[in-house]
Amino acid sequence: MCGIVGYIGNNDTKEVLLNGLEKLEYRGYDSAGIATSNDEGIQLFKVKGRIANLREKVDNSVQSTMGIGHTRWATHGAPSEENAHPHQSASGRFTIVHNGVIENYYEIRDEYLANVSLKSETDTEIIVQLIEVLNDKNNDVAKSFRQAVALLKGSYALALIDSKDQEKIYVAKNKSPLLVGLGDGFNLVASDAMATLKETDRYVEIHDKEVVIVKRDFVEIQSLDGVAIEREPYTAEIDATDIEKGTYPHFMLKEIDEQPPVIRKIIQEYKDDNDSIKLDQDIRQAMLDSDRVYIIAAGTSYHAGLVGKQLIEKLANVPVEVHIASEFSYNMPLLSEKPLFVFISQSGETADSRSVLVETKKLGHPALTITNVPGSTLSREADFTLHLHAGPEIAVASTKAYTAQIAVLALLAVDTAQAKGIDLSFDPLQELGIVASVMESLTDQKEEFEKLAKEFFTETRNAFYIGRGMDYFVVQEASLKLKEISYIQAEGFAGGELKHGTIALIEEGTPVIALSTQANVNYSIRGNVQEVAARGAKTCVISLEGLEQESDTFVLPHVHELLTPLVSVVPMQLLAYYAALHRDCDVDKPRNLAKSVTVE
Ligand code: AGP
Ligand code: GLU
Repeated sequence: MCGIVGYIGNNDTKEVLLNGLEKLEYRGYDSAGIATSNDEGIQLFKVKGRIANLREKVDNSVQSTMGIGHTRWATHGAPSEENAHPHQSASGRFTIVHNGVIENYYEIRDEYLANVSLKSETDTEIIVQLIEVLNDKNNDVAKSFRQAVALLKGSYALALIDSKDQEKIYVAKNKSPLLVGLGDGFNLVASDAMATLKETDRYVEIHDKEVVIVKRDFVEIQSLDGVAIEREPYTAEIDATDIEKGTYPHFMLKEIDEQPPVIRKIIQEYKDDNDSIKLDQDIRQAMLDSDRVYIIAAGTSYHAGLVGKQLIEKLANVPVEVHIASEFSYNMPLLSEKPLFVFISQSGETADSRSVLVETKKLGHPALTITNVPGSTLSREADFTLHLHAGPEIAVASTKAYTAQIAVLALLAVDTAQAKGIDLSFDPLQELGIVASVMESLTDQKEEFEKLAKEFFTETRNAFYIGRGMDYFVVQEASLKLKEISYIQAEGFAGGELKHGTIALIEEGTPVIALSTQANVNYSIRGNVQEVAARGAKTCVISLEGLEQESDTFVLPHVHELLTPLVSVVPMQLLAYYAALHRDCDVDKPRNLAKSVTVE
């Protein structure tokens, strides 16, 4: 949810921290702060709002070679300067930043901090106050840090500095992402490698319930009882140019345009020398061994899972259930004898999805993660991983990851079908190649969709997207895109279901966008369009070549019916983008949101 950066070395820490936070700002951005340490003590700079505000507030005369920084997505306590991180202990000796949610912070406050006056409304502050209370007894910071961490319940990525010791940053992690970056004469802490790629591409993973002491020339990982742990570093595979906007006004538009090359990269990555699909044999066997696939995801990834169900059932003849992660966690259905769990997650860090993985692993069930971030928590903790190869997705609104997820799910379905000897009526890699070309033709017609967005979405407060079958799954994604960046109250609705109540919301001028790419429901969805038009709705139909009618607003070039979501979503993404643009919304960093939701 938020971003953490720490630096200890020989250069000016302010620049490293601020640059790193700017790269992490997409993860959460309601407030921010840094703490620098030098012989004069600890200097604290905190603001409500963006990193740009923080940059203005930082005293550039401060010289420091170690410090920590944070960009916040509030869970406890409103976005404000007081609640912004870093937070300090009562004496000001200890300073901390935290990502996650401390579930037992009331208990800790009542049991250990009865005599401490808290300065903020956050759960985070109790951690740094607890460390000071324990250290007053122990007079051993490392021990007090481990003891405090051992008392915490919930999720945390922590970085702590001690004003009396400029040689160490204390780090701990549980269920929230955190990495240690390794340099020559310096070391770093970061929520993800993108923050500090300018400094180093060498990282070492921290696992849950571990603590790390980070020095300028030495990093020691320890268990909570202080036993040293050895771990090999790895090299981050992110190209620095991927995380820049280049000539684009927004990351979202860049990432919409990147979809065709991403599909082509997926084809390259998953085909063998005979131009057929090459998935890991263990994944293929896991699919063959399962009697039911359970897709677990959140948000856009959940919508990709809905399409994945169609692909796997229709192509590979394997029953599939798709579940919202946060629901599945607390309301697990009866499972089949031999389930296979498939976690779809762009970030690989979504806490709702990860908590399901923890439960299903306890039950001994196999898990496959489909993610854009190898080395992420959901990737590491699953038995198998399929990588999206989509490159870093920075915009909070997911676009290229969604289509990449569907493409990979299609390949998984085909691979299983081929392993079962099912004769497919099409060449998936060839069809995906066609999809990439059609996507390209759509992204070349931005002005069409900008015009449509201005016509339909500039003034309205609400909107409906309707579809049937595969189109029903896509319109749910379409409405999420519109909601999350333009703040229009939109619903993606099953065309045939509107008349069972929700049609009461249709008024004169209510925008209704209908999708029709499925031959078997082409006429019935058009009937639903008539129903709402008769009640004053402002309608438009986006159809697939071969199903079009004269009055349709836009006709999508033909692709295989099972792959239509890959092309029908592109106009929806562009409609949302331009709606947000013309409503002066922050396209890449919408209010209240974060790119990676690492709290439950
Ligand atoms: C999508 O546009 C949203 N940003 C959000 O719904 C996102 O898809 C969801 O939080 C799941 O994230 P994940 O794919 O990283 O697990
Ligand atoms: N729970 C902490 C707070 O509300 C941290 C939130 C975050 O991850 O940014 O400040």
